Amino acid sequence: MRIILLGAPGSGKGTQVKILTDHFKVRGISLGDILRQEVKRNSPLGGKVKEYMQEGLLVPDEIVSLVIEENINNEGFILDGYPRNVSQAEKLESILNNKNLSFDKAIYLDVSENMLITRLSGRRVCKVCNANYHVKNMPSEREGICNICGGELIQRNDDKPEVIKKRWVVFQKENASLMDYYRQRDKLVIVDANKEAEEVFQAIVKNFNYGKHSCL
Ligand code: AP5
Repeated sequence: MRIILLGAPGSGKGTQVKILTDHFKVRGISLGDILRQEVKRNSPLGGKVKEYMQEGLLVPDEIVSLVIEENINNEGFILDGYPRNVSQAEKLESILNNKNLSFDKAIYLDVSENMLITRLSGRRVCKVCNANYHVKNMPSEREGICNICGGELIQRNDDKPEVIKKRWVVFQKENASLMDYYRQRDKLVIVDANKEAEEVFQAIVKNFNYGKHSCL
């Protein structure tokens, strides 16, 4: 089971990765989370990517490709946040080919611009364990406190209105050609992601023949 999740900021990639990895018992690789951890640790990689992320810009391809290469082995995966342009898609293809691997589908989570603004402006994440909430759609049991670890819930720096706008512009610039890339390879599946998370999950899962237990 190898799935690539594509979609705009706020389309629900991170949310679906958590549900899908649990369902299929495969590893989730969320590039944004990996990079944010590096920034938090003040690592050399974190230092290189911090400014791009704060500004809502893409980190240069050569940096992120190395991170992906390190994280892909011959196990299954759900990949979130990579690729974001055709050059990254080509790089991913070559990484997989070199490891004699293939992937099943590229799932595009399709959301309206209004929906992603509502989702991103209301998103809260746990400072400690990174769990994801939404003030209205998926609130924590106690306001501002993570259900899982009791950590403080905060707003991501790049969820401020001016940065959300920039991320949307960056996404639109690259998205059509990236979708064409996977459409031409007969790998693209488009899912209406304006619906509730459970419905989106069901729409994704029906594209795969694997039963829950066959993947264990
Ligand atoms: P990254 O962290 O990947 O950000 P993103 O792609 O902008 O996506 P988000 O995490 O904002 O949204 P999401 O689609 O995961 O939505 P979520 O599930 O959280 O990347 C951050 C930065 O890292 C980039 O800007 C760039 O700088 C850098 N970077 C990353 N990858 C890179 C690459 N390949 N190349 C170069 N640079 C790269 O949901 C959002 C909210 O909505 C949550 O509150 C959630 O609870 C809620 N929600 C989700 N689904 C639903 C639903 N169905 N119904 C109701 N609410 C929902």
